[in-house]
Amino acid sequence: MRELASSDTLLAWYDQHARALPWRVPPYERAQGVTPDPYRIWLSEVMLQQTTVAAVKDYFLKFTTLWPTVSELAAADDADVMAAWAGLGYYARARNLLKCARVVAHEFGGNFPTDRDGLQALPGIGPYTSAAISSIAYDLPETVLDGNVERVMARLHEITTPLPTAKPKLMALAEVLTPSKRAGDYAQAVMDLGATICTPKNPACGICPWRDPCVGRKAGSAAELPRKLPKKPKPTRRGVAYVVRNSNGDWLLETRSEKGLLGGMLGWPGSEWGDNPAPAPPVHATWEREGMEVRHTFTHFHLILEVMTTTIDSEPNTGNYIPHHAFKPSALPTVMRKVFDAAKHRFE
Ligand code: ADE
Repeated sequence: MRELASSDTLLAWYDQHARALPWRVPPYERAQGVTPDPYRIWLSEVMLQQTTVAAVKDYFLKFTTLWPTVSELAAADDADVMAAWAGLGYYARARNLLKCARVVAHEFGGNFPTDRDGLQALPGIGPYTSAAISSIAYDLPETVLDGNVERVMARLHEITTPLPTAKPKLMALAEVLTPSKRAGDYAQAVMDLGATICTPKNPACGICPWRDPCVGRKAGSAAELPRKLPKKPKPTRRGVAYVVRNSNGDWLLETRSEKGLLGGMLGWPGSEWGDNPAPAPPVHATWEREGMEVRHTFTHFHLILEVMTTTIDSEPNTGNYIPHHAFKPSALPTVMRKVFDAAKHRFE
């Protein structure tokens, strides 16, 4: 008879191979009764959605240095938090992060709720983040299902139904394996297995703690799983970005409206983004426009921005001049940073 996968096997592997991560309490410390700080678990899990561990590490350290507790984060200026998030993408996460911190600080005395309904009532916390906090911070037997766990389950049980159709099945399989003890270590163990061994390409089946029970490995199909329904092709939108300085060397920037893409982030004034957007210069000026384009890909479309520049002192119809010494390109979201990098030589 086939050996069944067990959480004990995976936990024994995790005891030896857990990744050292800045938000993690390693298994030997947990065994001695050290418990993780829910604030750090929440912050890391919000950052890790759609973003790799490698990209998140520095941001996590920056945030926890600037704002060591949820109450300190709640008291921060919106612009400072958005600037610190710049480059991580999916900026609605940062806006919800701040909203959530303020609810936890002001309505819960700085303590995250411990129950599922209480967690999921908070801004930006859905089933995944709630399960991650419950298991990792509170050791409750909740099941996390992220892309790593989906891949591990699809291979372990050779589920050939494509994603996203297969999700409920993969969740059910993941739930069966979730242990009632050491749920936090287990949740992190499956994610580590997916990130380090059961990788999307060339999985290292030979050293996998679940190699014996893995049906996908036996069938030789592991590397092709999980199947995914073909993605819709992304349309291309166009727009114009205007980079303006005055004779003092100040930069014309605007804070984008809360709603919509890059909401609440700093950016260059610009046209709408679409098939054939109307020009929308922020000042009347003679523009330098010599064929300079910036390309950036968002979740649902590709963007090509034409970059126009000028130096002028007249009053703009949008935005504010920011003194050169106060302007930090690192506070710009990536697409706006690309515009700056393309434009800056024209002001040298
Ligand atoms: N990916 C998302 N959350 C994670 C965690 N807690 N550990 C490892 N990888 C993760």
